[in-house]
Amino acid sequence: MSFLLDLALPFSRLFEAEDAHRLAIRALSMMPKPAVAADDPRLSVSAFGLNFRNPVGLAAGFDKNAQVPDAILALGFGFAEVGTLTPKPQPGNPRPRVFRLLRDEGVINRLGFNNDGFHAAVARLSRRRAQGILGINVGANKDSADRIADYAAGVETFSPYASYLTINVSSPNTPGLRDLQAADVLDELIKRVLDAREGGAQKGQGRKPILLKIAPDLALGDLDDIVEIAKKRAIDGMIVSNTTVTRPASLRESNAKEQGGLSGKPLFDLSTKMLAETYLRAERAFPIVGVGGIDSAEAAWKKIRAGATLIQLYTALVYKGFGIAGDVKRGLSLMLDRGKHRSIQDVIGRDAVQVAASREQA
Ligand SMILES: Cc1cc2nc3c(=O)[nH]c(=O)nc-3n(C[C@H](O)[C@H](O)[C@H](O)COP(=O)(O)O)c2cc1C
Repeated sequence: MSFLLDLALPFSRLFEAEDAHRLAIRALSMMPKPAVAADDPRLSVSAFGLNFRNPVGLAAGFDKNAQVPDAILALGFGFAEVGTLTPKPQPGNPRPRVFRLLRDEGVINRLGFNNDGFHAAVARLSRRRAQGILGINVGANKDSADRIADYAAGVETFSPYASYLTINVSSPNTPGLRDLQAADVLDELIKRVLDAREGGAQKGQGRKPILLKIAPDLALGDLDDIVEIAKKRAIDGMIVSNTTVTRPASLRESNAKEQGGLSGKPLFDLSTKMLAETYLRAERAFPIVGVGGIDSAEAAWKKIRAGATLIQLYTALVYKGFGIAGDVKRGLSLMLDRGKHRSIQDVIGRDAVQVAASREQA
């Protein structure tokens, strides 16, 4: 199935980026879902009380409206994260708002949380027969009078449907959203989100793991505060990272000056350094999902060695197609063979100190 989708990849390049994405969602929703072949047992990972068949997940933003999570899982991903969803539907920013940086193998997006809202997503998710690990990523409406309340509502609304929930305070495309990463606000946000989870748990919805997704552009002093709060409040995990508003000097495409968040290959070094910095501060209090610029097994391996228990990718789909999940998994197995490791768990964080100390090549 992924083979057929990959054949369509050069064809989809003829379309504007956002139209190509819409076609991909349509194709996935119509594809038959074959049984997934078994994964190498050495790739299985447990984190936040969940057992992942492999560590390769699809990052948020591809399936914003929870239309195709099971098709994503059928492609061999170990988990799928849908969203970001906001309480009310909202259109996002005017088009064009997604730009491919072809020679850089990057993407800039300034979508601005375009999505169908909680209600439509619940309608879809309640028809789903749960199988496979599903993350639901929640955010706040642009015009919300109480953004923290939006996150709490997200946790309450989606707890019955999610394997885990992601609190996304790191999108650069909703003005002021990343200010929620400031220590005092974040502490309040996490407190209210955990209260909402507790409320749901009392109603028998289960106490689902809550992950915090951060930006790669934080000052290290701010990261100190964030990790301390995450530990103090016993957050279940962190996702590092979202897109960057910085522009590495190495970028070659002229549309690199477009406003928005940069993802893909040019994000790899920055997000991997931030991951290592987070891992060292977390001191294994919680697992970390490494995301940003993964486009091969080698890149996934580096993320794991920098401190990731699980990994996610999105932009590599644009350049390499859906076969990427299988490629990364096969490559990771080879790497385990080569190093005679018993499992992925053996190498998590092994290079964190060196990666954190490295000068990033931005
Ligand atoms: C077009 C696009 C839309 C995205 N939308 C979201 C989103 O809604 N919520 C979110 O948490 N991250 C979103 N992201 C960020 C990705 O989840 C991921 O953190 C980032 O792209 C880095 O990974 P990558 O280099 O593998 O793409 C989006 C990324 C792209 C390219």
